[in-house]
Amino acid sequence: YVKLDSSLRSPVCCVLGHVDAGKTSILDRIRRSRVAAGEAGGITQQIAATLVSIEDIAAETVSINRSHNFTLKIPGILVIDTPGHESFSNLRTRGSTLCDVAILVVDIHSGLQMQTIESIKLLQSKRAPFVIALNKVDRVYGWKSVTNSPFKDSLKVQTEEVVQEFEKKMEAVIAELAMQQVNAVPYYKNKDFRKCPAIVPTSAVTGEGIPDLLLLLPLLSQKFLGDRITKRDTVECNVLEVKVQDGVGSTLDVLLLNGSLNRGDKVMLCTLNGAITTKIQTILESSNMKSTSGVQRIEGAIGARLICKGAEKTLAGTELHVIGPKTNEVELKKKARRD
Ligand code: GTP
Ligand code: NA
Ligand code: MG
Repeated sequence: YVKLDSSLRSPVCCVLGHVDAGKTSILDRIRRSRVAAGEAGGITQQIAATLVSIEDIAAETVSINRSHNFTLKIPGILVIDTPGHESFSNLRTRGSTLCDVAILVVDIHSGLQMQTIESIKLLQSKRAPFVIALNKVDRVYGWKSVTNSPFKDSLKVQTEEVVQEFEKKMEAVIAELAMQQVNAVPYYKNKDFRKCPAIVPTSAVTGEGIPDLLLLLPLLSQKFLGDRITKRDTVECNVLEVKVQDGVGSTLDVLLLNGSLNRGDKVMLCTLNGAITTKIQTILESSNMKSTSGVQRIEGAIGARLICKGAEKTLAGTELHVIGPKTNEVELKKKARRD
């Protein structure tokens, strides 16, 4: 089901929702990591980008795609986890500005909460296509879990009462969403993905509905993003987080959307003390942060960690600019100041 289109970059997919809805857990399920379990107080406090390759997506969706026959053309999906805690509104805003598509995670038992509504407003103002992961279905009373199965297969093995209980809860959430001008429809009944955001019932614990989610994201991206995810040569790179790493010094976690970065590139950064120019000393891929030497070159869309001298006061959320032989540094400095 994979036929790569080399003109397309990976879309950026932001995961938004109220605290403890299960955002990090869903991502853990998708990237086979265990980040949520290691977080202080179980609360996400940063935004980070990881690439889920199309090979992995294809492998996870083999069975569900048998009936859809959908051709995957994008190289992968770059997912950005965001915190749901109320104090991190700035990180949610930053995440939503960068994303092409989004997953709004709603706990089926809690329905819409403060930060769910805040997230909906962000997505509406950005007009980004999104899907709603209606999470924690495994905790519907009497639910029989089928590990990693497409949602419909899971639903088939439930008793009549359990199906009713599930539908009652889903209908309640649909009604709450309608009050926010979101006409959500379960994805298996959805006829117009542009007008009606699709609901995908999921469980991050049992993996139910995750194949469905993984197939829908490329589908939405390929159907509706078009030009937006067509690769461009001009460097577009955003600083997500500035951190101090033991024995290394200050590092920049960046999201390179378009273009490429090379070790040794001269760059301009926006810092607390104004624009500075420095050099990229080391590039570490998000998938291999432990490497000491790093890589020579990266190409968007990808998440990476950069080590640059004098970068400690860089402002998160600002752009990184590459200075080439033809760049007008004075103009760029002016632009950087406006950022
Ligand atoms: P913040 O980053 O703090 O906003 O939370 P989050 O949305 O990332 O939620 P997180 O993944 O940390 O999950 C919160 C709690 O819910 C954890 O204890 C998870 O194990 C649990 N959880 C997440 N998804 C599911 C699910 O589908 N089913 C059940 N039963 N528990 C879940
Ligand atoms: Na949490
Ligand atoms: Mg989290």
